Amino acid sequence: MSNVRPESMERITTAALAEAFIDEQIRAVRAQVGDGKVLLALSGGVDSSVVAALLIRAIGKNLVCVHVNHGLLRKGEPEQVVEVFRNQMDANLVYVDAAERFLKKLEGVAEPEKKRKIIGAEFIRVFEEEARKQEGIRFLAQGTIYPDILESGSVKAHHNVGGLPEDLKFELVEPLKFLFKDEVRVVGKALGLPEGMVERQPFPGPGLGVRCLGAITRDRLEAVRESDAILREEFAKNGLAGKVWQYFTVVPDFRSVGVRDGKRSFEYPVILRAVNTRDAMTATVEDVPFALLQHITQRITHEVKGVNRVLYDLTPKPTGTIEWE
Ligand code: XMP
Repeated sequence: MSNVRPESMERITTAALAEAFIDEQIRAVRAQVGDGKVLLALSGGVDSSVVAALLIRAIGKNLVCVHVNHGLLRKGEPEQVVEVFRNQMDANLVYVDAAERFLKKLEGVAEPEKKRKIIGAEFIRVFEEEARKQEGIRFLAQGTIYPDILESGSVKAHHNVGGLPEDLKFELVEPLKFLFKDEVRVVGKALGLPEGMVERQPFPGPGLGVRCLGAITRDRLEAVRESDAILREEFAKNGLAGKVWQYFTVVPDFRSVGVRDGKRSFEYPVILRAVNTRDAMTATVEDVPFALLQHITQRITHEVKGVNRVLYDLTPKPTGTIEWE
């Protein structure tokens, strides 16, 4: 099949155009897979979620969604995947709690590239194990979108590690492969996915693993997860959630002296990052109101265990990257 978006294809900007696209893809998917089963790694990100919702409409329980919780997801994310896809959409969803397994593999590993490789390789291994448990699946659905095809050096293509072994070769089902991100969101909304899922900010595959700097420990990982939840809550409350391109927290692997309840403390800092960009190649820092930064600092230092300071990262890309690892 061609990998060039047909010139005649209209840009999907409205619910009506999305409905027409969905109908067309339902027909195409049914023609491709018949009554065969299709496997999908459902991360809960925009692309895989939209593919899931589309294929549930097209083939129902013949879509087998596998959600791997690697323990590095944001607060509430795995629960949302189960709620939306299993409870609301009645999907055939396999939920794999692999958190312990990933944390064990990552124990003592401080080098960023090594951490990424371990997370990527372990993800493939877990997914492969689940794929082998499912008998007779010939098709693999993927949330490939047009920028992934256009830019061979795209973030997704660049960061994804490895692939499935030779004997697990599937025929691909890629219903979004000619869509741009904004079109994927329009289609997602038309499919009834929650706003928060469709408008989600980008989140790296290795998840919080690249934001818990150095060798991951459980206490710092929880500090990243809890502080990130506070930051997201405050950005949502203050109208920044849909406006700022990406925002998150980072916890480094050193502590500093502070004072709490009149006693000396020795705890971790949390670094806040909020950036805007068009293509993630360069980025500028969001000018977050100072009072809001102070409020977030107050909340994090009082609600997150083991944290006594909050810093705001003022560095654009370059010279920084968006993530810290
Ligand atoms: P950097 O840190 O390179 O990040 O400036 C650019 C964008 O890419 C995201 N990112 C990733 N996305 N898998 C992904 O799918 C990854 O391993 C990964 N690493 C970074 C990052 O969040 C930012 O949006």
